[in-house]
Amino acid sequence: MRLYKAMDYQEMSRKAAHVISAQVILKPDCVLGLATGSSPIGTYKQLIQWHQKGELDFSQVKTANLDEYKGLTRDNDQSYYYFMYHNFFKDINIDMANTNIPDGTNPDSAAECARYDKVVSDLGGVDLQLLGLGRNGHIGFNEPGDAFAKGTHCINLQPSTIDANKRFFASIDDVPKQAYTMGIKTIMQAKKILLVVSGEDKAKALYDCICGPITPQVPGSILQLHSDVTVVADAAALSLFGDC
Ligand code: F6R
Repeated sequence: MRLYKAMDYQEMSRKAAHVISAQVILKPDCVLGLATGSSPIGTYKQLIQWHQKGELDFSQVKTANLDEYKGLTRDNDQSYYYFMYHNFFKDINIDMANTNIPDGTNPDSAAECARYDKVVSDLGGVDLQLLGLGRNGHIGFNEPGDAFAKGTHCINLQPSTIDANKRFFASIDDVPKQAYTMGIKTIMQAKKILLVVSGEDKAKALYDCICGPITPQVPGSILQLHSDVTVVADAAALSLFGDC
């Protein structure tokens, strides 16, 4: 595991964007696994800037997002489809037919999860998976539990995750209670993983992921078993690392 320290969110985003940019330059038809949330927004902004300067070409890139809220349509401004379109895809030259996100409107969880696993496997797997980290240690929406979930599955979001996400909704009652998410097995099968973490509220989760025991109670701790993980974190997120 490589750990890169950044001063702040902006520097973290730039360093992370360098890792993604290297992947796209070296393999123009790569498969990027993408995340939503506050953590990667700065990274997407930086990639957009480089693209607009003519330095990055996404025309052959394919993407597979980690997760989507169950029940939200694509045009709902809180859906992850909407997030990806407005924070990244609309400003780069990606072919939207090459982008993949679980379909939150499919009420049949088993069918949607099987479909999405097939999508990822038909892509030939993910070359570089970008991840954020939940305050409870989740990756994707793989919440703490008694076992590591394998493939794409429908998850009941934990109260702490619903609480963390309520800032994006009119009220906590509007936050979806379920989501489709890639499983730990799918994430771990990515050839490379890039974890971006910012802020003091993530310090404990990051410390537990990297320095603690590997346990499904801290889903991100499984990353210790992956052979090619890059962590880019800011000073606040690394504030507990004195003795690691
Ligand atoms: C998002 C995702 C989540 C987030 C995590 C951190 O697609 O899978 O695991 O990465 O909840 O969210 P932020 O970055 O908003 O703190």
